[in-house]
Amino acid sequence: MTRRCFIIGHPVAHSRSPLIHGHWLVEHGLAGSYERVDVAPAEMAGFIARLRAGEFVGGNVTVPNKEVVLPLLDEISQTARAMGAANTLWLEDGRLHGDNTDAYGFLAHLDACVPGWAQQSVAALVLGAGGAARAVIHGLVARGLRRILLVNRSPERALELAEAFPKVVEARAWQEVAALVGESSLIVNTTSLGMHGQPQLEIDLSALRPGTIVDDIVYVPLETSLLAEARRRGGIPVDGLGMLLHQAVPGFERWFGVRPQVTAALRAKLEADIPGA
Ligand code: ATR
Repeated sequence: MTRRCFIIGHPVAHSRSPLIHGHWLVEHGLAGSYERVDVAPAEMAGFIARLRAGEFVGGNVTVPNKEVVLPLLDEISQTARAMGAANTLWLEDGRLHGDNTDAYGFLAHLDACVPGWAQQSVAALVLGAGGAARAVIHGLVARGLRRILLVNRSPERALELAEAFPKVVEARAWQEVAALVGESSLIVNTTSLGMHGQPQLEIDLSALRPGTIVDDIVYVPLETSLLAEARRRGGIPVDGLGMLLHQAVPGFERWFGVRPQVTAALRAKLEADIPGA
């Protein structure tokens, strides 16, 4: 029997997840599918009923449905609860489970690019205070980072997110970024700035210390201006494509019973689909 999986978002046509799961299905010779389904938030309950009725074994949830799906689930993992959002769903013994693998994906890619990074990290600077920032901070705290500086265009969102991680996350003003760069051994951009079609992220990296890891979760373009500038200044650039690839691993394993690998061939396939990469 063909196991059907989905990605539900609104819009969803741009999603590259079908490329990833399609690659793994072929690689492992599995009879399965992974389909884009456009589902608006107001249609979520109807779609979840189809899932429960057996049309699918599970799937991914993307913007803007990651939060609205939570009340429709039977079991919510601790991580998804902490995130207030789920991106991976599966049926198990008739119950609908939801997890969030964004923090896992972020950490797994950093581990692959810079082994031992957490031991070398003194302070991290996180730009942005949305859902992606919450996932990144959750991951950094789980790895034992004890000082995380958080800046955001809207200061009240940074303050609110910092309150969820008392004593570790400190909300600071965007105007301080240039100075905070010099205090940080890891810098992560979680804003949409620098993404194709969005304004550039303009921050002054002149205080960047060589060896500082600069991680941009934006992956279109693959090398953002932030990463290019970090590279020029002796920083270690980490792009956002790896997070996308790694966050897909736990879902595929749940749905198809095989833990897939993020290989160079898979990465090359995704890179070929990114303009200018
Ligand atoms: P996600 O769930 O992907 O993190 P989000 O919750 O919409 O998406 O958050 C987007 C982040 O990018 C926010 O930190 C946002 O800043 P605000 O909280 O002030 O909105 C940031 N962002 C988006 N456009 C921006 C811009 N033009 N300048 C500065 N920050 C921007």
